[in-house]
Amino acid sequence: MLAVGREQSWLCQRFLPSRLLLARNSLRLASQLPRRERRLVRTVAGNQSSTNSFRRQLLLGTACGCGLCVYAARSSSAYQRFFAYAMATSMREYEEQIAPIKHELFDKAFQQGPVRDVVEVGMGTGPNLKYLAADTQQGLRSVIGVDPNPAMDRYAQRAAKHAGLSSDQLQLRQGVAEGLPLPDACADLVVCTLVLCSVKSPGKALQEMRRILKEKGQLLFVEHVLAPPEQPGLRLAQRLLDPLQQFASDGCHLTRDTLPLVRASGFTKVEASSFMLEQGSLIGPHVSGLAIK
Ligand SMILES: C[S@@+](CC[C@H](N)C(=O)[O-])C[C@H]1O[C@@H](n2cnc3c(N)ncnc32)[C@H](O)[C@@H]1O
Repeated sequence: MLAVGREQSWLCQRFLPSRLLLARNSLRLASQLPRRERRLVRTVAGNQSSTNSFRRQLLLGTACGCGLCVYAARSSSAYQRFFAYAMATSMREYEEQIAPIKHELFDKAFQQGPVRDVVEVGMGTGPNLKYLAADTQQGLRSVIGVDPNPAMDRYAQRAAKHAGLSSDQLQLRQGVAEGLPLPDACADLVVCTLVLCSVKSPGKALQEMRRILKEKGQLLFVEHVLAPPEQPGLRLAQRLLDPLQQFASDGCHLTRDTLPLVRASGFTKVEASSFMLEQGSLIGPHVSGLAIK
């Protein structure tokens, strides 16, 4: 996502796909990393033959952009580990900016009904666990994180510990939003932040989230989306750079119009707002809200 180092030029901040910057920053930072992290980055950028093949795939995928090349590069475990590491180290600024919105949404969700069992779809490195942990006094029982990328797990576990969640409160499962490995009506709250931009089928993912919610359960979402028609320049830039963003950012689309999809997914009530997080940024336009089953 948004990975803007202080030294990035204004142009870069606005017009390069954000996770491409994230990748570049992370590689540059590699030399300053502790040894264990350096080994990880070396796996991506080093000189073994598997790494060379990863590099070839990366270059081919970027230059070619065809589905097969992109798939080949993105499905390698080195890319998954690299992406997890990059997410874990480059999202602080974004999380600071979005924090007031998330605080308000989580507070509202906790006030609207009992939140005991939570499922977070596409949990990633676990930046939302601190908001959930804040509710443990009110009876939070379990949090299940579902993500296709197993390299995210150790970061999520670390975030849970940091947030004060006990190890038996968090379960991590490998899976995708379009086919959640969970039974019907098992969650009071489903959390989904910056995920509907990345899944293959957002409509199917939303159906699945609704399926696993209990009656009157809530879906909490925060997503970056296609800019509104009043910002034609930004919309055009998003459309032009969308293929590159998908490759550089693990399948993330810049052009998803997510709110109409949420509204069309059979929830009884959707309370949402649209806002701009950072003026002019490709992932500035956001929607957030609560949808009630
Ligand atoms: C941009 S990250 C966001 C992570 C986290 N939710 C956050 O707010 O930082 C997107 C996450 O979605 C996950 N993801 C990608 N495709 C997915 C799918 N089909 N189903 C579920 N999660 C998916 C990725 O592995 C990644 O962890």
